Amino acid sequence: MDNIIKDIDIISGEDAQACDYKTTVNEFTGKNKKLYIESYGCQMNFSDSEIVASIMKENGYDTTSDFNDADVIFLNTCSIREKAELTVRKRLSQFNTIKKQKPDMTIGVLGCMAERLKEKLLEEERLVDVVVGPDAYRDLPNLVLQAEEGTKGVNTFLSREETYADISPVRLNSNGISAYISIMRGCDNMCSFCVVPFTRGRERSRDPHSIIKEARELFEKGYKEVTLLGQNVDSYKWSAEENNKARLNKKAKGTEIVTFANLLEMVAQVSPSLRVRFSTSHPKDITDEVLYVMKSYDNICKYIHLPVQSGNSRVLELMNRTYDREWYLERVSKIRQILGEECGISSDMIAGFCSETEEEHQDTLSLMDIVKFDFSYMFYYSERPGTLAAKKFPDDIPLETKKRRLQEIIDKQSIHSHERNLLDVGQLQEVLIEGVSKRSTQQYKGRNSANKVVILAEGNYNIGDYITVKITDCTPATLFGEIVS
Ligand code: SAH
Ligand code: SF4
Ligand code: F3S
Repeated sequence: MDNIIKDIDIISGEDAQACDYKTTVNEFTGKNKKLYIESYGCQMNFSDSEIVASIMKENGYDTTSDFNDADVIFLNTCSIREKAELTVRKRLSQFNTIKKQKPDMTIGVLGCMAERLKEKLLEEERLVDVVVGPDAYRDLPNLVLQAEEGTKGVNTFLSREETYADISPVRLNSNGISAYISIMRGCDNMCSFCVVPFTRGRERSRDPHSIIKEARELFEKGYKEVTLLGQNVDSYKWSAEENNKARLNKKAKGTEIVTFANLLEMVAQVSPSLRVRFSTSHPKDITDEVLYVMKSYDNICKYIHLPVQSGNSRVLELMNRTYDREWYLERVSKIRQILGEECGISSDMIAGFCSETEEEHQDTLSLMDIVKFDFSYMFYYSERPGTLAAKKFPDDIPLETKKRRLQEIIDKQSIHSHERNLLDVGQLQEVLIEGVSKRSTQQYKGRNSANKVVILAEGNYNIGDYITVKITDCTPATLFGEIVS
C-alpha cells in the first residue's frame, strides 16, 4: 500500500514499508493518562491506530508525541517482510531503558506481528506487557488495566465480523485535509508469499451506510480528500441479507447489495469538492464498472494502485495471484481505453521469488516497459514463516541475485517515472494543497489527481485549497508547478 512517504514517489526495496513509522500527535482533551503509538506497515495499520486511539480515549487517554511522557506505549506492527519485524524488535530494545526508569509504564505490541507471534512475543520480548491482534482492539483498555495490576495479557482472536464500524477514529495521520476510511478488513486471497491472510483474518466488508456517514462527517469538518482502504478494495461486497442473518445490523434493509463500484459512487456523491481515492486494487477483481464510475466523477482521482508482483505467468501462478501476464496487460489497456493516458498507475513488484529464472525476471522488466508505471513499491522476496510459499517452495534465489534483480527493477522504474512525469510538464492540472514541502518551508506541496506530488512556487493560497497549476518541471519523483488560478 502506498503513500507512506508522501514526498518520495520511488521507494526502493526492503526499506519501503519496514522502516518508516508514524507517531501519534499531541492531543489535549483533559484526560488523565497519556498514550503514545508508533505505527509501522501499511495504511490499514495507520488507520487502525486511529481506532485504537479512539478506544483508549474513551477510557481516559490523550495521545502524546513524546514517549517519555507516556503511561502506555503501543507499537502497531507489520510482518510483511522479515526486515519489518526486525525493525520493531530493535525499537523494542530501545524502549528497555525507559521501561527501567518507569517500570509502571505499559508496553503493548499490536497489529500483524502480535497476531503472528502471539504468546511467543511475551517470552521473547520481556518488556512487553500486552500483545493484541488487529481484531481485538476493543479489549485493549481491559488488558492495559490488567497489565497495570501486574498481569501480562494476550488477545489475538480473529473475528469474522469485526469492522469497528461504530468507532469514530481519532485522526492521527491527518493534516486536516486528507483522511483514511477503512472499508473492509482481512484478505481471502492467499497469495503464496503473503502473511496478511494469517495476520488479518478473513475478508469482511463494512456497512456502506457507516462509511458514507464517516465521509460526510469528514467533509463537514473541512476535509477535502478521503482514501478508501482495504487489502483488496475491489472485492468489497456488502449484503443487507447476510448482515441481517449475522445480526450485525438489525436495520439493514431487504435485499440491498453494495459492490465496490456502488460504494465508490456513493462516496463520490457526498460532495463534488471531496476528492476520493482508494487502495489497493487487485488485478483479478478490478471491474470495468469501477473504471466507468471513476470516469463519471471528476472528484474520483484518476489513479489506480494495481500491484502486478511479477511479469511472468509461471511465477504469478506460483504466487497464487490467480491472473497471468496477459490478463494484467488487458486490465491495463482497459484502464487506458476508459480513463486515458492521464490515469496514474502504480505497482508493487517482488524480485527473486522462489525458482524465478533470469528469463522470468526479464519478463517483469518487459512488462514494465509495456505498462510504464508512474511509480512502484519494489521489494526482494522475503520468506515468511507459515505462508504457502514457505511450506511448498525453497527460497532458492541467492540474496545477491535478488538484490541485483531488484536494482534492475528500481533503475527501470526510475526511467519510467521520469518519462511519465515529463508528459505532465506544460499541462494545467488541479492540485489539492496538502502542506508545506519538506524541502523548504517557503514552498507548498500538493497532489494532482494521478497521486503525484507537486511542489509549488510561492503564491497566494492556503492548505486545503484546490488550485490550477501549470507543471513547469519534474524529476523522476516529483513535479514542480506554478499557480495559474
Ligand atoms: N493487498 C495488496 C498488497 C499488500 S502487501 C495486494 O494484493 O496487492 C504490500 C506488498 O508487499 C505486496 O504487494 C508485495 O509486493 C509485498 N510483499 C508481500 N509479501 C512479501 C514478501 N513475503 N516478500 C517481499 N515482498 C512482499
Ligand atoms: Fe497479501 Fe495477496 Fe491479500 Fe494482497 S491480496 S494482502 S498480497 S494475500
Ligand atoms: Fe504489514 Fe499487516 Fe499491513 S503485515 S503491510 S501491517 S496488513
